[in-house]
Amino acid sequence: MIFTTFALANPNINKNPQGHFGAFLEDLPMEKILIIGAAGQLGSELTRSLAYQFGGEQVIATDLRDSARFEFDYCRFEVLDAMNKEALHDLVKEENVTQIYHLAAVLSATGERNPKFAWHLNMESLLFVLELAKELKLDKIYWPSSIAVFGPNTPKINTPQYCVKEPNTVYGISKQAGERWCEYYFQKYNVDVRSLRYPGLIGYKSLPGGGTTDYAVDIYHKALAGEKFTCFLRADSYLPMMYMPDAIKATLDLMNATRESVKIRSSYNLSGMSFSPKEIFESIKKHIPGFEIEFKPDFRQAIADSWPNSIDDSCASKDWGWKPDYDLDAMTVDILKNLPSYFKF
Ligand code: SER
Repeated sequence: MIFTTFALANPNINKNPQGHFGAFLEDLPMEKILIIGAAGQLGSELTRSLAYQFGGEQVIATDLRDSARFEFDYCRFEVLDAMNKEALHDLVKEENVTQIYHLAAVLSATGERNPKFAWHLNMESLLFVLELAKELKLDKIYWPSSIAVFGPNTPKINTPQYCVKEPNTVYGISKQAGERWCEYYFQKYNVDVRSLRYPGLIGYKSLPGGGTTDYAVDIYHKALAGEKFTCFLRADSYLPMMYMPDAIKATLDLMNATRESVKIRSSYNLSGMSFSPKEIFESIKKHIPGFEIEFKPDFRQAIADSWPNSIDDSCASKDWGWKPDYDLDAMTVDILKNLPSYFKF
């Protein structure tokens, strides 16, 4: 077997309370990581962390757009359409890929504009990846799920891991079905697939990507641009959210956890913080006192209303030691400090 060593400079890598890394830093098996949809909101930050962990030459970022290549000067890049089964198969085989992070998906608000396309892309591409993992006996697969698996009949406060779901967006339906497929491939074919139900993800390195929770990304852009923010949700619309560094930490911790400690093979509940548009506005106003907001709820309000207010993630804490670092005010300070170096205002 070939082995590699990686530097420990990423604090997330050695933080896992299960301590699986401590003893084996010198002896990690050589992994080759493929990321599908690497230029998206999560991908653009996760890919960098993976390159940090495994080395840029071991990481292949892929995306539909060739123009995304310039974002990945620290690792390899290939153009790949997640729906092109043959191209995916050839790339994985030729490059001896051992792990796939399948991040390409149509999000909730965009999905409602073209439900059949969202279903087709979200489901088919996942099934290609799971089949490939089975056929080529890949080491690990990562696939993100979402709070969108929950629906109006789900308990809203501290939503448990196991409860009624009944999602009513096509995005949520595809994520719920995807979770069942993941567990199925684990149980029937021993595919080591791992997944997290992300809350709304908030980062400053990419623009909003068509999600209902993306108002909480856009609001920082408007505040820094000195513009009034028009919010498409009501002032009191509570949603579970997470700052991107926490999402990256959770993903790496789950993927670095021992196989035995990953007890849930559908997808883990994951919680960071919960807030309303009014609360994030007030958090920003502490730093930009002249900032203004108006509320004009649109079709996305019904989506938000169907999702939980807060999430119980005790299974993730118990199984692989999950704990978030950021609350709303800490996130606001960090974003207002760093966003201007990524976008011009
Ligand atoms: N952020 C996603 C969305 O709003 C939910 O996972 O679509």
